Amino acid sequence: MRSLKLLFYSKVPKMKIVHTPEELREARYALNGRVGFVPTMGALHNGHLSLIQKSRAQNEHTIVSVFVNPTQFLAGEDFATYPKRTQADIKICELAGVDILFMPNTEAMYDACEPSIIAPSTKAYILEGLARPGHFDGVLRVVLKLFNLTKPNRAYFGKKDAQQLYLIQNMVKTLFLDLEIVPCEIVREDDGLALSSRNVYLNAHERQEALLLSKSLKVASHAIMGKERDCEKIKAEMRTTLAPLHVEYVEILNRDFDTIPSIELGNCIILVCAKVGTTRLIDNLWI
Ligand code: PAJ
Repeated sequence: MRSLKLLFYSKVPKMKIVHTPEELREARYALNGRVGFVPTMGALHNGHLSLIQKSRAQNEHTIVSVFVNPTQFLAGEDFATYPKRTQADIKICELAGVDILFMPNTEAMYDACEPSIIAPSTKAYILEGLARPGHFDGVLRVVLKLFNLTKPNRAYFGKKDAQQLYLIQNMVKTLFLDLEIVPCEIVREDDGLALSSRNVYLNAHERQEALLLSKSLKVASHAIMGKERDCEKIKAEMRTTLAPLHVEYVEILNRDFDTIPSIELGNCIILVCAKVGTTRLIDNLWI
């Protein structure tokens, strides 16, 4: 009872919810001190929350965006049905101590006439970008706009989307953007499944099958602990574990997203993508 009372009476600083770039700019300029930014597409879970908490710990202020960005979805993908939990997202951000929550609509973010942003083809049209050509063009396009609006000192991205993280780091470096990208660890369920807004698409049977992704990464890490260094052999072991699923890719790359013949400890990412039912899931392990 006592803690409930405390919850009601404790002073939670008021979070500003803004919907237009103009409102966001005004709210941003009113902030003093360092600003951390967490871009999301909503349906917030503990993975998103861990990014918000890291931003809160490292900066005086935190801005979160919730925007299901149409330009990163291909025709026939789940843009129209992407999970929306507006009220829950607002509550989570409020309780997490977010200062500004930006929830724009598509019209506010895009104009019919604007310059193109094309992600570098060698790194954006492999893996995720092979299955989803143009996906990363849309990601970089919206993230650049969001950086321009929020002017953060730091922005927080999950290692769960390793290729996205790499391409954003590459954009910040090569376009000389003045902010730091902070990579954040993958948050998992107790049984190993990486949290994802798309996990809600899985039925009970698929939820069990989905564990094969993290299991295959464990198989890889055991092989590496057993001194196996040959990437082809490790990938073959992973494929055996993943056999019941429709595997899209199993890859071992260095941190610059180049293929490598043998494991370089401290410089590897093992990536897996498989379809469980109709749901495409990704997972990875940084070695
Ligand atoms: P979204 O899928 O909502 O993810 C927002 C951020 O949360 C990304 O940086 C993602 O890597 C991170 N995240 C998701 N699941 C995670 C987990 N289990 N553990 C840790 N971090 C996790 O990624 C996007 O949105 C969009 O592409 C976006 C960058 C917002 C551009 O539209």
